[in-house]
Amino acid sequence: MIQFLSPIIKSGIGKSFKNKSILLSLVAIPAVAIGIYHQNNQGLRFYTASQVKMNEAAFIAPQLSPKWDFSPERILSDAKKIIDTSNDFYNAMVAIENPSIENFVIPSINFENENSLAINQLTFLQHVSKDKLIRDASLEATELITNFDIEISLRYDMFKQFDKIFNDLKDNKKYNDLKTATPKDYEIFKYVEKCHKDYVRSGLNLSEEKRNEIKEIKKRIALNSLQFSKNLGEQNEFVAFTKEELEGVSDDVMKQFETYTDEQTGEQKFKVTFKYPDIFPVLKTAKNPNTRKIAFNADQNKVPENEKLFIDTLKLRYQLGKILGYDTYANYNLDIKMAKNQETVMEFLVDLKDKLKPLAEKEIEVLKAIKKTEAQELNMAYDDHYYIWDHRYYDNKYLKDKFNVDLEKISEYYPVESTIQGMLKIYETVMNLKFIEETDKDLKSTWAGDDVKQLAVWKMDDPSKPEFVGWIYFDLHPREGKYGHAANFGMAPSYIDKDSKRIYPVTALVCNFSAATADKPALLKHNEITTFFHELGHGIHDLVGNNGIGRFNGPGAVPWDFVEAPSQMLEFWTWNKNELLSLSKHYKTGEKIPESLLESLIATKHVNGALFALRQLHFGLFDMKVHTTTDDNQIDNMDLVQLWNGLREEISLVENGDEMNKGYDSFGHIMSDSYSAGYYGYMWAEVFATDMYYSKFAKDPLNTKSGIEYRDIILARGGIRETNDNLKEFLGREPSKEAFLKELGLQ
Ligand SMILES: *[C@@H]1O[C@H](CO)[C@@H](O)[C@H](O)[C@H]1NC(C)=O
Ligand SMILES: *[C@@H]1O[C@H](CO)[C@@H](O)[C@H](O)[C@H]1NC(C)=O
Ligand SMILES: [Zn+2]
Repeated sequence: MIQFLSPIIKSGIGKSFKNKSILLSLVAIPAVAIGIYHQNNQGLRFYTASQVKMNEAAFIAPQLSPKWDFSPERILSDAKKIIDTSNDFYNAMVAIENPSIENFVIPSINFENENSLAINQLTFLQHVSKDKLIRDASLEATELITNFDIEISLRYDMFKQFDKIFNDLKDNKKYNDLKTATPKDYEIFKYVEKCHKDYVRSGLNLSEEKRNEIKEIKKRIALNSLQFSKNLGEQNEFVAFTKEELEGVSDDVMKQFETYTDEQTGEQKFKVTFKYPDIFPVLKTAKNPNTRKIAFNADQNKVPENEKLFIDTLKLRYQLGKILGYDTYANYNLDIKMAKNQETVMEFLVDLKDKLKPLAEKEIEVLKAIKKTEAQELNMAYDDHYYIWDHRYYDNKYLKDKFNVDLEKISEYYPVESTIQGMLKIYETVMNLKFIEETDKDLKSTWAGDDVKQLAVWKMDDPSKPEFVGWIYFDLHPREGKYGHAANFGMAPSYIDKDSKRIYPVTALVCNFSAATADKPALLKHNEITTFFHELGHGIHDLVGNNGIGRFNGPGAVPWDFVEAPSQMLEFWTWNKNELLSLSKHYKTGEKIPESLLESLIATKHVNGALFALRQLHFGLFDMKVHTTTDDNQIDNMDLVQLWNGLREEISLVENGDEMNKGYDSFGHIMSDSYSAGYYGYMWAEVFATDMYYSKFAKDPLNTKSGIEYRDIILARGGIRETNDNLKEFLGREPSKEAFLKELGLQ
């Protein structure tokens, strides 16, 4: 379907999988930059002077960056104009009697390519503008555009046009064969195939009755998901404890809790909400196992009203898959992923689970020994069990007692300016690029003035003839009304226009990094360094896309279960001693970070990593189990409590004790269209990321040759070819899990 490209938000999804960011969430370590920067009147430049003085004229961008001079009125009038123009366009397209590549496909491609920047600008501003009126207008524009987009995606007359062309092309080797078709014809074929498939997946190849049924099902699924996350977001539940019961929790955290007097006992009680900053410290530091048990289960059992929404959605999804000709919802959903079907996913998950088990058992032995020692010290009975509510506590205790990484101190070596410059330098070396900050006031245009950096990116394969790649923006620190996480927003894809000219892409990193304070510059914590590297990985993916059709370039073009792999791979650099050392520069003294500090940090990377991975596998397997039912009765008869708890005990090896809970009522991922039958994707992508890193970079992380191969095979091809074929070509063999298992400590 002719779909508007909306901003691709990849908020470090890898993050939730990352052992380290969770383990280290208390302590943040900033990174350091090595970089040499020029100071001029405009302030610090990112411009890396590393490279000899080059001919500045060679670096004049052939394409201006977009302008950001929007008013609230213009945002809405532009959105309406785009919708009107689009309506006219589609009406003209469906009126064509004999649709062909020339009169239908190419105009459709051009129309989509040409409109994406304007649309993305309008919808992006809600996340970043300083002006509330602009944010509100952008939100309103987004709603208009999204609704319009849904309408278009369900236009039967458009489907009929694509269907005619698809049937003409599908057996035509001039178009559909990668080996014999020209790249342009092949892209045209893939475009038609993709649009056609999207329509078919929306049910447009079915009778009107069935189409209406699908529309109804999708509407109900969307409402359920909305309500599910609304319930989750608005829940105000808490669990209350006395001061004594909370022994071990720090004074700072205790101060966060509201208190009240229990009417029956007259005791003072502390309200622990289920928001992360409240509940996590309790699970991590409360010494009393019974407190942890109560807190853990209360948190897991929150939002009970979500259960019926969840079950109803499972049934609707099963119905949807069935109407569309799939035996299960999972197979419907996986059809367009790299994994392709549920057997592949199940095999992947079960194999990992079996392989990780021995390693996780060893990890548990260590944790149990700590538990035993502590029981002796505290004069508590030791029962030789390790329960689910013990895990965060002993994991945290182990990290603190054994490693004691001082993340604040580490951050002092990583002031934002020099660190980011150093990180760009690494990207420059590995992928043979060059970043040049735009400091000319007449040429720079951003949505928030100097809060945002604008950089031109160049490819340096021929150093005497730099090749422009596109524009990237960095909007790194918090601001009122700004998006509060880290994400890459693709603003405009790379494409070839109707005059055969390359139109360059625009992309933006939006982060929430610690800002400067009165007495310190902005210092990056280690997890922020990793986040920057990760998000920049998505940004570069966006920039180096080499296809002619915008929708085939960038992270949004690859199957959902591979999207994170490139960025997860780049995170490896931020765990290397050499790179971390080179990035470091103490904000006061300019000194490099002491190696011992880095070693203490790096040593924690995979502490209890197998247990962490098994917990992810529990989520992934539960997700698959509930989405592979083959009739409604199975869903009715499914004992969700047993399934959730039973699987957890079996897979993650921590015991349930005498209490089961309903953690699935707050398992937000499972209600999203992208992650349902898709949670496995985190690990799936991590396995490829690790494989790529170890086979091509581990020995020599700054190897430009490997970097260029990676850039050109994995990134630049976007989604035009099978991801697995790209991987095989890059690796020189079939991808394997070996590196991933080894990274976690399995021999
Ligand atoms: C569309 O429906 C027709 C008629 O039922 C069928 O022959 C054809 O295979 C379907 N096409 C796809 C792509 O499902
Ligand atoms: C973003 O940063 C601000 C200021 O440091 C902080 O209060 C807020 O919690 C952060 N947002 C998220 C989602 O962490
Ligand atoms: Zn990501």
